[in-house]
Amino acid sequence: MAKAKRQMIEKMKLIDVVIELLDARAPMASRNPMIDEIVGNKPRVLILNKSDMADPEQTRAWQKALSGENQRVLAVNSQDGDGTSLIPKAVRELTEEKRQRAEAKGMNPRADRALILGIPNVGKSTLINRLANKRIAKIGDRPGITKQQQWIKVGKTMELLDTPGILWPKFEDETVGLKLAATGAIKDEIIDLTEVAGFIVRVLSERYPDLLMDRYKLEAPLDDDLWNLLEGIGRSRGMVRSGGHIDMDRTSEMIVREFRSLKIGHVTLETPE
Ligand code: G4P
Repeated sequence: MAKAKRQMIEKMKLIDVVIELLDARAPMASRNPMIDEIVGNKPRVLILNKSDMADPEQTRAWQKALSGENQRVLAVNSQDGDGTSLIPKAVRELTEEKRQRAEAKGMNPRADRALILGIPNVGKSTLINRLANKRIAKIGDRPGITKQQQWIKVGKTMELLDTPGILWPKFEDETVGLKLAATGAIKDEIIDLTEVAGFIVRVLSERYPDLLMDRYKLEAPLDDDLWNLLEGIGRSRGMVRSGGHIDMDRTSEMIVREFRSLKIGHVTLETPE
């Protein structure tokens, strides 16, 4: 990790702006807390990616909460390209002052150089391909940047490093892991699906009770006890084993799958403070 971090800090010297990808459904959990040490005070464009899967109202709230002097925030769907055309413009705005200073010294203006950073599965390769308008091979998700670098031209004003910076997720507390598991950012083999399903159902019952009731034909008021609630969902889907017990493994797997495939609805797992 220390080596990866050092390499990344080294790369910062090449670029004007950092494009940091976050998952719109969990913008804080999908952020590496070390990012500030790596990026320093370089201007940043934060991308709330996969915004097609998030709650639009929460995405707007996050955009507002995260915007700042040296930082633009865009909601993007890298898969179909929604919002991606705004990226070069946002980058351009952030380099305006620097460019003016260079021009005042008689230097020729040059393209803005940017690098995409983010944790695995947040959509870095998809976004690079989208901006490059072609398919660029996906490299292994190892922290740091390993292969030979090339610049990709994006429109007239921007150049992008063809290899993203891969940051590792950081499980500062248990809910970070649960949020990343719910969105599919971490592999199912290393997590307890019932815990993840319980977490999803807890968020839904607290913040999106109507979606939960509609999807699983539950009646208000929802049971306060999480286990009972999960059993109720299993029962409503007929996931009953011999002896009348609810099959919690199947129920959990179904909830997680339906959450990830948007069958339950557009849900954001965390709200700005
Ligand atoms: P990475 O480089 O950061 O590791 O992520 P990558 O681009 O490989 O994207 C991870 C998964 O997220 C891919 O799905 C990709 O299609 C999906 N994805 C990326 N951006 C978006 C987005 O804005 N919206 C939605 N809905 N999905 C997005 P996959 O199932 O792993 O692969 P595939 O089915 O695309 O082949």
